[in-house]
Amino acid sequence: MSSPLPPTAFDRADEQPDALFYVMPRMVVHIDRATLEALTTYYSDVLFENADVLDLMSSWVSHLPESPPLGRVAGLGMNAVELEANSRLTDRVVHDLNANPTLPYDDNSFDFVLNAVSVQYMKRPFEVFAEVARVLRPRGRSIVAMSHRCFPTKAIRAFHIPGSAERYRIVSLYHDHCGEFDGVESLDRSPEGADPLWLVVAQRCE
Ligand SMILES: C[S@@+](CC[C@H](N)C(=O)[O-])C[C@H]1O[C@@H](n2cnc3c(N)ncnc32)[C@H](O)[C@@H]1O
Repeated sequence: MSSPLPPTAFDRADEQPDALFYVMPRMVVHIDRATLEALTTYYSDVLFENADVLDLMSSWVSHLPESPPLGRVAGLGMNAVELEANSRLTDRVVHDLNANPTLPYDDNSFDFVLNAVSVQYMKRPFEVFAEVARVLRPRGRSIVAMSHRCFPTKAIRAFHIPGSAERYRIVSLYHDHCGEFDGVESLDRSPEGADPLWLVVAQRCE
């Protein structure tokens, strides 16, 4: 798939296989508690009862609210121990999206695909977001949550940038490029005095 960003945008300081970096589980949270609570609040505003959810680039915690009750909660990430510890997941798969961007799910499987504080690690995002559209049901939503912290050696060059505007632009482009999303929105849900919470939300076309 062609890319509207230059190839150097996807360079990383550590180009070793991701399986090496993620071999050890990291049972940590990556952003401030208030910011995670703001993300959980956003999810509780938009998720609906029995929705089927894919937590893409998942770990030991998914930040999902207690209610509404959900249907399937699939988790895809790099570390089996982290995924096993995530009690919200109903099924789990270890899968390296940079080695293989094809999602191991059927067409039209999910109402929501979530990506929390991880989009900066994708080297093949245009392929991955075309796949996100494929596994979403019509009018299903992709929700990408970003902040400003990261593992710098694993984040692509395009995300070594200071502010929200460029991140919104890049992640909107990821969605727009496949032509399968509409209503792409950027939302700032940052709490006062805590890490920022920048969301890009897009709806799969009918
Ligand atoms: C900063 S952590 C965020 C984890 C979780 N989403 C959260 O909100 O706490 C980054 C996550 O991205 C996942 N990840 C990194 N590179 C990946 C890759 N190439 N393929 C799939 N998942 C990847 C890792 O498994 C890790 O759980």
